[in-house]
Amino acid sequence: MSEKIPFVTKELVEEIAKTYPTPFHIYDERAIRENARRLKAAFAWNAGYKEFFAVKATPNPYILQILKEEGCGTDCSSMTELMMSEAVGITGEDIMFSSNDTPEGEFTKASQLGAYINLDDYTMIDFLKEECGIPETVFCRYNPGGVYEVSNGIMDNPGDSKYGMTKEQMVDAYRRLQKLGAKKFGIHSFLVSNTVTNDYYPMLARTLFELAVELKERTGAHIAYINLSGGIGIPYRPDQQENDIALIGEGVRKAFEEILVPAGMGDVAVFTELGRFMLAPYGHLVTRAIHEKHTYKEYIGVDACAANLMRPAMYGAYHHITVLGKENAPCDHKYDVAGALCENNDKFAIDRMLPEIERGDYLVIHDTGAHGFAMGYNYNGKLRSAELLLCEDGSVKQIRRAETPEDYFATFDFSGFFGR
Ligand SMILES: Cc1ncc(COP(=O)(O)O)c(C=O)c1O
Repeated sequence: MSEKIPFVTKELVEEIAKTYPTPFHIYDERAIRENARRLKAAFAWNAGYKEFFAVKATPNPYILQILKEEGCGTDCSSMTELMMSEAVGITGEDIMFSSNDTPEGEFTKASQLGAYINLDDYTMIDFLKEECGIPETVFCRYNPGGVYEVSNGIMDNPGDSKYGMTKEQMVDAYRRLQKLGAKKFGIHSFLVSNTVTNDYYPMLARTLFELAVELKERTGAHIAYINLSGGIGIPYRPDQQENDIALIGEGVRKAFEEILVPAGMGDVAVFTELGRFMLAPYGHLVTRAIHEKHTYKEYIGVDACAANLMRPAMYGAYHHITVLGKENAPCDHKYDVAGALCENNDKFAIDRMLPEIERGDYLVIHDTGAHGFAMGYNYNGKLRSAELLLCEDGSVKQIRRAETPEDYFATFDFSGFFGR
């Protein structure tokens, strides 16, 4: 079993906590940059390759800025994500707008920014046309239906998923979009989330490359881009084998050479819009043990709760925990590590073997850099924490302050109650 080693020490956290009390999320700039470079190198064989970071995973302009410096664009799914992208100077064809059930006004904003627009459904063609016209380049999202299998079994069930169009709808969409003036096309598909296998992307690439050849033959459309979207996962558990991005890139290259090049489509640009792979391992939620409780089970109460990290409560997701300063102590105590919400699923770990925890100990909850802070909410009047950046030079910068009660109350007008 490989160890998960935090990128902060007890001493550093004690120092940070003097200025920024727990709980907080902290991100490791150096590791984010190194990983982004590995991804870029893995797809360097494709001249038009670009990663559009899925903003929803970690919507923070400082993170977007780091990734921009590493050559990434953004994948946005809402008005505010488009606005955040614009604020950090990521505009035009550096934005992929991959929305679904799109509210009025968002295509207009995406179009004003010059973003690539990715349509989730055939009916979105008329919606887009009426709202702001059909751009020269349009993406359509594909859903093959059925179940999706790789060598080690069924991965997911696209037939049950709300996203994307059937193949015949894709054919109709490309024909109609050409009639309406579109000149260049992209194909997008996201079939399985958090895949911990090197087979998913190469297999998806094969599916989409074959579809591209067929669509070109049947509709005459110029397919210029293929977006493999998100889905490359990370090993949340210490016994899982992490993906090898170089092997994944090579697998996609092989499929490209075998399918697209012989079809005269060797100029297609491959895009990705990864979130979890880009950020998850490079974020920690740091929390402090504030209570212990001994009833039918042994509980450790921490100062973070599911409002700071929803995944364990929502999906029963495993997040590894390190007790800082006790990295080498025996894991001979079985705990439920719980937050303060009035919900019994507000637990970061259940029956987890950990070193003996005392009040005041700092706990690192691992792999919270993506879909962590971002899924936060205010149930029980809980406030969102700060986000910090461990900079490459070792300094710590606050990149989002913690919410205050004033933030929580900001959308009420209390004047009718107290201001009389
Ligand atoms: C359209 C789209 N693209 C990309 C992503 C990023 O996925 P992941 O974080 O699994 O890479 C998501 C995640 O929900 C998504 O919905």
